[in-house]
Amino acid sequence: MTDPVAPGARLLITGGAGFIGSELVRQLMARRDGTHVTVLDSLTYAGNRANLAGVEGEPEQAGRFRFVQGDIADAEVVRSLVPQSDAVINVAAETHVDRSILDPEAFLRTGVIGVHVLLDAVRASTSATRAVRFLQVSTDEVYGDIPEGRRSVETDPLAPRSPYAAAKAASELLVRSYVTTFGLDAVITRGSNTYGPHQHPEKLIPLFVTNALAGAPLPMYGDGMQVRDWLHVSDHAAGIDAVLRRGLPGEAYNIAGGTELPNREVIARILASTGRDWSLVRSVPDRPGHDRRYAMDGSKAKGLGWAPVVPFDAGLAETVAWYRDNAAWVEAAKGGEWADYYGRQYSARLAAGETASETVGGPASGGAAAATGDG
Ligand code: NAD
Ligand code: TYD
Repeated sequence: MTDPVAPGARLLITGGAGFIGSELVRQLMARRDGTHVTVLDSLTYAGNRANLAGVEGEPEQAGRFRFVQGDIADAEVVRSLVPQSDAVINVAAETHVDRSILDPEAFLRTGVIGVHVLLDAVRASTSATRAVRFLQVSTDEVYGDIPEGRRSVETDPLAPRSPYAAAKAASELLVRSYVTTFGLDAVITRGSNTYGPHQHPEKLIPLFVTNALAGAPLPMYGDGMQVRDWLHVSDHAAGIDAVLRRGLPGEAYNIAGGTELPNREVIARILASTGRDWSLVRSVPDRPGHDRRYAMDGSKAKGLGWAPVVPFDAGLAETVAWYRDNAAWVEAAKGGEWADYYGRQYSARLAAGETASETVGGPASGGAAAATGDG
């Protein structure tokens, strides 16, 4: 089997204009080892060509880079690109749990039909003399809600509980079926909650950072004691790269951040790094089916020589600084369909919510600004 990422390899990265995909592209291009990257991205609301500006604006990297706007569920475009590739890294997906609750269909189209189209094209390009490695980027959410006291390992059953997680688990099962049935050379990464620069401001950290910087309310779901394991985007991309290069065919690998925190603690640190206080935080009705905790054991990926290196506080400080310094990027991301989405997701919640207290069940810190936002 050819090394899929030997110097000069040709990689097809789907979803490369998004948050994690664009970081992966930046890392691969910065190696300057002759790797050629084609990004296939349909530029949904979450995709942003500006995320690739550093690569496209640098002549040496631009010469090894190509951007194709297209859908992974479009067999024609996928069949034209896969035969030119030594490996396919599927980062593309609809990625926000709350949107999957409002409108699940796009999640299934990309996660099931899109992954099927990619796998079929990889299968058609694979022969006795040529293997095209396929890497499916997945998530810890496929394991479902994890009780205190244990961490998911790769052999645990998949038990997704949101339409987003169900679509991601469906993608994984399709990949597995192609490994078993057709002998495809495929690997899977399961990343934990990821944060960092260039993340569309809809998930907890980028939404709360940008709202806090603007003095707008921070809608905390339920009691805020849900636990997530935080992973910096550069560590996540490095984990994908390690599995791409060294992962064993047919295997899945947890890419665990190793920083498990309740949402309240994350919010407290965001407030501290943006110079705000709890008067901005609104306790709002909970997400339906909200998973209480995700937690993974990361030993298997560490066996490939990968480990997260960015400490959470340093990563958060860098992230806050990035959003503060990139107001035009934030303004563009919060343009378009943003207001409509934000209204659907939060208007009724914020109206029904109340100013949160710093401790669970404690007195609210008050402040009229918290109810309306002062920015
Ligand atoms: P993102 O929403 O920022 O980016 C997704 C990208 O995929 C966008 O550029 C979008 O335009 C593109 N895309 C969506 N549907 C497409 C389609 N049908 N065809 C082509 N392109 C399409 O997402 P992200 O946070 O960068 O997540 C990337 C991957 O990592 C996803 O597979 C996600 O499930 C997984 N993941 C994310 C996290 C996280 O916390 N963000 C954690 C674990 C795993
Ligand atoms: P999110 O960033 O959407 O990631 P995921 O649901 O995939 O883990 O949410 C992280 C946590 O933050 C999760 O417990 C839900 C919570 N949350 C809020 O409390 N308020 C919000 O507005 C959002 C987007 C998330």
